[in-house]
Amino acid sequence: MQAVVLVGGFGTRLRPLTLHRPKQMLPACGVPMIEHVIAGLARHGVTEAILSLGYRPDAFIDAYPDGTCAGVKLTYAVEPEPLDTAGAVRFAALAAGVTDRFLAVNGDVVTDMDVTALVAFHEKSGAEATISLTPVDDPSRYGVVPTDDDGRVLGFIEKPPPGEAPTNWINAGAYVLEPSVLDRIADGRKVSIERETFPALAAQGTLFALGSDAYWVDAGTPATYLDIQLDLIDGRRGSPWPAVDPGSTVSPDATVDRAIIGAGAVIEAGARVERSMIGAGTRVGADAIVADSIIDADVVIGEGASVLELTVIGRGEQVPAGARLADDRVPPPDTWPPKT
Ligand code: GDD
Ligand code: MG
Repeated sequence: MQAVVLVGGFGTRLRPLTLHRPKQMLPACGVPMIEHVIAGLARHGVTEAILSLGYRPDAFIDAYPDGTCAGVKLTYAVEPEPLDTAGAVRFAALAAGVTDRFLAVNGDVVTDMDVTALVAFHEKSGAEATISLTPVDDPSRYGVVPTDDDGRVLGFIEKPPPGEAPTNWINAGAYVLEPSVLDRIADGRKVSIERETFPALAAQGTLFALGSDAYWVDAGTPATYLDIQLDLIDGRRGSPWPAVDPGSTVSPDATVDRAIIGAGAVIEAGARVERSMIGAGTRVGADAIVADSIIDADVVIGEGASVLELTVIGRGEQVPAGARLADDRVPPPDTWPPKT
């Protein structure tokens, strides 16, 4: 089966990590997020992933020079300009010559969902499109999808105001689509699958959805990007992943507790690192504290500094000795270039 994987967004919520890289190329426990996503699809018989690219496409093309990722053949479709989710699916599917039933997925979702069951349900219901659903505590950040008892979708409400969602089952970002859906998507302009295509299909009664309570996280925010990595090392998805890269150096007088330490990183004596990601080649100086934070590659954290409360530090930055950061961004937002 072919799968269109949407990876063209700007990753705005993950800035400054995404100033130089698309979010799906950020590492999760040392492996680019896209590889976790494609490995999950491969387990359900996907043989070709059509990457729908927009923002910084070269990052993907350079990372997989042999044109495969997790054993799956890659096809690249680079949009001339952002076409939004449905426009991107159409552009990529046509570029790759899709003529049969296919999958489309949001490339920032990390999940153990049973795609095989989704396809089987789609087949049985005779739907034109089938959406996977997952339950969440706060549906307002997502596409909210009420259904009847047979799984027929009654409406699709993208990001409703807090407290107004009719259900807490939301669009999990994986779809089975008949090729006829492509004919419904206008050419040459932005089209949102969530705001335009799915509401139209729901109104005609040809959109179905299947819920699952399998592991599911949209890794598009600092908190959830950190969560998917802590879940891997905690063993919430099978055997625990190694947390500390063997190519890093952790002083015997440092404390590391539930933290991902990248290759070539150095944690000096007296430092404490907890519930955080330390990127490859980053140095955490003596007696510094890093907690609940994300530090990209090649950063230097000065002696005695504290970096706390979901602080995000971009690649190659320096934190002065003794500095105190909490819920901060380095470099700060007022220095970020406009989206290009
Ligand atoms: N190629 C391309 N072009 N890709 C795009 C574009 C575009 O113009 N816009 C967004 N994407 C990609 C992003 O890179 C991401 O992988 C995916 O499409 C979804 O975009 P997000 O920006 O991450 O959307 P979201 O998380 O706010 O909401 C979406 O995902 C939720 C589940 O995680 C929606 O589909 C919601 O309905 C859904 O609940
Ligand atoms: Mg997302």
